[in-house]
Amino acid sequence: MSTTLVNILVRRRPGKSLTRLCLPCFRKLVSYKHTTPCFVTTPIFYVNAGPHIGHLYTVLLADAHARWNRLSGRNVLLSTGTDEHGLKIQQAASRSERSPPDYCDEVSQQFKVLFQSANIQYDDFIRTTQDRHRRAVQRFWEQLESNGHIYRGSYEGWYSVSDEAFLTSEEVKDLTTPDGSTAKIYVWLDALINYLTVAGYPDNLTTWPPTSQIIGKDILKFHAVYWPAFLMASDLSPPTRLLCHSHWLVDGRKMSKSLGNVVDPSDRMERYSVDGLRYFLLKEGTPHSDGNYTDRKVTETINSGLVNTLGNLLHRCTSTSINHAQVFPPLDPQAMDTHFSAEEIHMYSTLKTLPDSVDEHYQTLTIYKALDQLISVLHQANAMFDHHKPWQLAKQMDQSEHLNTVLHVAMETLRTCGILMQPVIPNMADQLLTKLGIGTDRRTIDSIYEDFVKDKAVKLGTDTSVLLKRVK
Ligand code: MSP
Repeated sequence: MSTTLVNILVRRRPGKSLTRLCLPCFRKLVSYKHTTPCFVTTPIFYVNAGPHIGHLYTVLLADAHARWNRLSGRNVLLSTGTDEHGLKIQQAASRSERSPPDYCDEVSQQFKVLFQSANIQYDDFIRTTQDRHRRAVQRFWEQLESNGHIYRGSYEGWYSVSDEAFLTSEEVKDLTTPDGSTAKIYVWLDALINYLTVAGYPDNLTTWPPTSQIIGKDILKFHAVYWPAFLMASDLSPPTRLLCHSHWLVDGRKMSKSLGNVVDPSDRMERYSVDGLRYFLLKEGTPHSDGNYTDRKVTETINSGLVNTLGNLLHRCTSTSINHAQVFPPLDPQAMDTHFSAEEIHMYSTLKTLPDSVDEHYQTLTIYKALDQLISVLHQANAMFDHHKPWQLAKQMDQSEHLNTVLHVAMETLRTCGILMQPVIPNMADQLLTKLGIGTDRRTIDSIYEDFVKDKAVKLGTDTSVLLKRVK
């Protein structure tokens, strides 16, 4: 039975709380596991200039989406790479007085290094200058030809080198003189075929079609119109789903070398940490409207979500002054009934509904909504903590049941949110879950439905370092 069916069953009973539906027990029967394999792609990046935060954003969305699906038990193939053909790359190489192959090697490597340091778990990094790709393009062309889709003719149009696209006369009216092109195989045909190359075409097309193709809004036409047409003309299925995102601007303007406003992601990862930058881009980036990057906004977002809310709750419930025994205590339902309000009990029971609601956001790339929801739950847990004043309970011998219930609820919230935030902040989530004593085999989405602590308290990890220092 699939998760979709679970969603339907839950939604068909409006007004009923999930505790009453006994979702945790239900889950045991219908594991969260999705069974279909997942083939996620990013666009391949032009090597005419080094990477900026906009490029990192595209890849981060794909990485978080892929990680989420891995956590849900699916087999995932995530591909990325570099696009090394086209006039603008040739021009960039000649400007830097390098041969095109040397120039491509260097910039392609910059993308690779960035993706590794940003903790992108890609499975394949394709370069369009590789032999396997040349063979795929050749074969695809032959297939189009044998299907009768290639004919000789003369065509005239305005070719924009910077856009690597033909423009209409209307669009050209707005430009200074455009360059002409003598390209033989249209660069976009060559570039799009990269997705087939990584899937094993032409020898052994193992995983086809892609299940999620992640692209920026500027390349929608190529992916939504040309690409399915090329594929159908070659007797291949079009991708299942295109996920399109908006752009990052700086001071309301497009990032460009000539404007001097390019934001370097490596520099920002050093300043804000890898997870800090990952969190900011995924929390503030939305698919429907462009985001405006400012360092001030990064500082505020990280401090308010990761430092004051997530880090603070972990710090409070694992501090030796409150948690003398340094454990994750089990739930005492009686103590909960006695000391907790109906609202607080409801908050606790809704933790088990979070995987379903964030699933939708990770799948549709509205990851900011998943993070909003999780941060709001963590806020409520901090408010619950303040309300019960555990620092006072910790001083009274006869209040240990009450204290342990507060600690249990706070830690269960951290466990759930930590597991669900792994795709966005993998390092911090690892540190948090390790501190809570949660082994690496108990961090899947399914494990949220298990009782992590049963009768016996679980010993906390010994690392006392803070999750993330306040960003100045
Ligand atoms: N090489 C083509 C893609 C071929 S895919 C078959 C290309 N390359 S690109 O380097 O110009 O862009 C790659 C991706 O980065 C695109 O999805 C694009 O939307 C994204 N971004 C480029 N600038 C961006 C921002 N400022 N903000 C967010 N994403 C940005 O197009």
